[in-house]
Amino acid sequence: MQGIFITLEGIEGSGKSTQAKLLADWLQKRGQDVILLREPGSTRIGEKIREVLLNKNFKEMTPLTELFLFLASRAQLVDEKIRPALKKGVFVILDRYTDSTLVYQGFAHGLDITTIQQLNTIATGGLEPDITFLLDMDIHEGLNKSGFKDRIEEKGLDFHLKVREGYFKLAEQYPQRIFVVKVKPDPQDTHSEIVEIFCNKFSI
Ligand code: TYD
Repeated sequence: MQGIFITLEGIEGSGKSTQAKLLADWLQKRGQDVILLREPGSTRIGEKIREVLLNKNFKEMTPLTELFLFLASRAQLVDEKIRPALKKGVFVILDRYTDSTLVYQGFAHGLDITTIQQLNTIATGGLEPDITFLLDMDIHEGLNKSGFKDRIEEKGLDFHLKVREGYFKLAEQYPQRIFVVKVKPDPQDTHSEIVEIFCNKFSI
């Protein structure tokens, strides 16, 4: 049996990694094999690419360079980890995927959306998530939480507002796949909503 491919998306500081971990624990308790991954990174090569992408010193990095680095990390991850895991029936939980590129490099940076879609398809061989949780919260709250710690978080409020709007557009476009979850003060409450949506969609 093929595994389920789950992605988490959202602005900085929306608590994706906490929710990814809670969902992984919940699935594991039900006897499911789970692998937890993040983008960029999660392979030896991808983690090196991540260091370059998030390095605050590389102020000269152009949006196009950024795009290709994210795609390179993704191509490696899909082939090396995601496809083999899904084939073995393992559930894959991935913190950020193709939607991040569409909103950050596309909607926020202004690169052409159709081109990004084509490049995403090339990088992933067309592999799409079975379900995506979009964790939504106020921009100021999110950025304050994450503390402006890397090159992308430093891009300013306007950029991150566009990111959030971009996510809403995608959610409207793919209502069967993308579920918007409002981040609650208690992460357990957010987790409960995610589990409920998951169970409804997959009848688990
Ligand atoms: P990370 O520290 O993992 O941030 P977060 O915890 O918010 O996920 O850094 C990843 C950064 O890279 C984040 O600012 C979003 C950005 N990003 C893109 O711009 N495009 C992409 O395709 C991906 C995967 C991430």
